[in-house]
Amino acid sequence: MDLTFNIYLIGFMGCGKSSTAEYLNKHEKLHIIDMDEEIVKRAGMPISEIFATQGEPAFRKMETDLLRDLKNVTNTVISCGGGVAMREENVALMRESGRVVLLTAAPETILGRVKNSHNRPLLEGRKNVAAIAELMDARRPHYEAAADITVETDGRTTPEVCAEILRRVSAK
Ligand code: S3P
Repeated sequence: MDLTFNIYLIGFMGCGKSSTAEYLNKHEKLHIIDMDEEIVKRAGMPISEIFATQGEPAFRKMETDLLRDLKNVTNTVISCGGGVAMREENVALMRESGRVVLLTAAPETILGRVKNSHNRPLLEGRKNVAAIAELMDARRPHYEAAADITVETDGRTTPEVCAEILRRVSAK
């Protein structure tokens, strides 16, 4: 399928942004960019190392720089890092070239998806439902303010989530 805009997938870590983008690439032939992967490539080190050696503010700047570089891209699904929607500047950049889709999941679902990985510095030492719920509550107003549409992922398959995204972004 061809889109005249980009789809920016936002939402909490582990809400399914990357797997949704991969599905849309495989089954709808949409181009995809994974922001975390792109930043790791550019920086030449994993995210945990960027946080450890350069600090979180440097990582956040890399995110904004990358979004600026994506302004001329189209027909692409961009899987954003979970913190991207926290900056108003980033939200404005996403809106300039696409529709913003918020994926949601309950803290219990998130925990199940992230518990065995160690590539998310913000979740180290926070891998329990209470801590995830607390961070999610703090971020929710930003996610909701940024979103053009919101799609729930709890108890749903990736094909179901993708079908809803495509139906609703096209109607926007
Ligand atoms: C972050 C989410 C991560 C990654 C970084 C910070 C966040 O991306 O960008 O660890 O602040 O929520 P995912 O949402 O793809 O895990």
